[in-house]
Amino acid sequence: MQPTWKTIIEPFKIKSVEPLGFTTRAERERVLRDASWNLFGVAADKVLIDLLTDSGTSAMSAEQWAAIMRGDESYAGARSFFAFEAAVRDLTGYKFVMPVHQGRAAERILFAVAGGPGKTVIANSHFDTTRANVEASGATAIDLPVPEALDFAVSAPFKGDMDLRALEEKIRELGGANIPMIVMTLTNNSLGGQPVSMGNLRRVSEIARRHRIPLMLDVARFAENAWFIKRREFGYAARCAAEIAREMFSYADGCWMSAKKDAFVNIGGFLAVNDPQWSARAREFLILGEGFPTYGGLAGRDLEAMAVGLREVLDEHYLEYRVRSIEYLGDGLRRAGVPIVEPPGGHAVYIDAKRLLPHIPPSGYPAQALACELYLTAGVRSVEIGSLMFGRRENGGFKPARMELVRLAIPRRVYTQSHMDFLIEVIADVAARAKTIRPLRLLDSSPRLAHFTARLEPETVQ
Ligand code: F0G
Repeated sequence: MQPTWKTIIEPFKIKSVEPLGFTTRAERERVLRDASWNLFGVAADKVLIDLLTDSGTSAMSAEQWAAIMRGDESYAGARSFFAFEAAVRDLTGYKFVMPVHQGRAAERILFAVAGGPGKTVIANSHFDTTRANVEASGATAIDLPVPEALDFAVSAPFKGDMDLRALEEKIRELGGANIPMIVMTLTNNSLGGQPVSMGNLRRVSEIARRHRIPLMLDVARFAENAWFIKRREFGYAARCAAEIAREMFSYADGCWMSAKKDAFVNIGGFLAVNDPQWSARAREFLILGEGFPTYGGLAGRDLEAMAVGLREVLDEHYLEYRVRSIEYLGDGLRRAGVPIVEPPGGHAVYIDAKRLLPHIPPSGYPAQALACELYLTAGVRSVEIGSLMFGRRENGGFKPARMELVRLAIPRRVYTQSHMDFLIEVIADVAARAKTIRPLRLLDSSPRLAHFTARLEPETVQ
C-alpha cells in the first residue's frame, strides 16, 4: 500500500519565474506616503508578496500557454470559440454560452436583461460588483446568509449557505413575480470565501422551482467549492471533484463566471444560461458592449486558455494543495494568536482587525491601518474589507461596515510554502505589536467605490 505522506507538496514544477520586489523600510515609508496610505496606489514592483487579489493573478500552465499559441483570431466562428463553448457545456450542461471579458461584464448584461426597477435579487451574498450591477439596473440586492456566517470566530463547514427560512419569508413578502432570480455565490467571497453545501444548494433550487424563480450561480470559485463539498459533506468523499461540480450546476438555470479565478486566466469570463429568451436578449447586450458572440470582448487565445483552465482546475492534486495551502496559512496565524475568520476560506485568509486592534474604532479604519502596517513591515500587500470599502459617508455622517477585515488572497500556483512561512512570521510580528498601530484619518474619497482612490494619513493625536 502507498504510504500517506503528511506533506502536501505544490503539484507542479516551475518553468518560468519572476523576481519579487525587494525594498528597504525607508523606501516603503516613502512609497506609502506617496500613495496616501492606499495600497491600490502602490506600484506592484514595490511589493514583495502581493495578496491584493486572487483574480487574474494566477500562473498559467504550460498547456495553457501552448493553447494560447493555437488561438484562432477569426472575428466570427473561431475554432477557439468552439473549444471554449465545449469546455463550458461539458462542465455546466447549460445550452447557451457567451464569453465576456470578465465577471462584471456578465453581471452587467444579466441584470440589464433580468433586473430593473421594482425587482429584488436575493443572494447568499452578492459580491460588490454584483450588487453594483443589480443596483445600476434599478433593482434591489439583498443578502440572506446563514446567521453563523456573520460570527467570524465560530467555525462551521458551510458558512456560505443561504438562510432557507429567511428566503421563504422574503419570497412570501415580495412575491415571486418581483424576484427575477436567486443567486448563489460559490464560494461566498464577501463573507470569507466560505463554501455552499450541496444540500443547501439543492434546497434553494427546490424553493426557487416551486416559486418559478430562476436560480443563477456566480461561480468564480466553483472548483474550490466542489472540493469543500468532497471534504466536508456526507456522501461526497468518494465522488470526484468534476462530478461534484456537475451536480452543483445541475441545480441551477445558468451561471456566470469571472474566469480570472478558478480558470487560472489573466482575463476572461462567461455567462451561460438555458433560457432561449434570456440568451437572445443577452446576446444583444453582448454585441453592444463586448463584441461578436463568438469572442465577446476577448481574443481567441484567451478563449483557448479558459477552455484548458476550466478542466485543469478540477485536478484533485491541485485542489488538495490549493485548499491545504490556505489552511496552512490559517493554522500558522491561529497558532500565533492572530484572530482570523474561521475557518479559512478557499482562496483567502481574512484577519479580523476588529479583534486584533480593539483600540482603533471603525472611524479610524483598523483594517486599513493593519494592511498598511503589513506593507511597511515587509512589503506584503493585502486588501481592506471594512469601513473604507463598505462604510457610508454621507452628509458629514459615518456609518461603519459590519466587519473590519484584512483579506490575504492567495494567487493560484504563484507562491510556495516558504512564502506562506514567511507571511506567518511577518504577520505574527505585526500582531505582537498591534497596540502600537495607529488609526488612520480619511482625507478624501469618492462617493462610490471609495477604497480604490481614497487618500488617508495616520492620526497624530489619539
Ligand atoms: N463574483 C465574485 C464572487 C467575485 O469574487 C468577483 C471578483 C466577481 C464576481 C467579478 O469578477 O473581477 O472578473 O469582474 N472578485 C475579485 C476579488 C475582484 O478580488 O475578489 P471580475
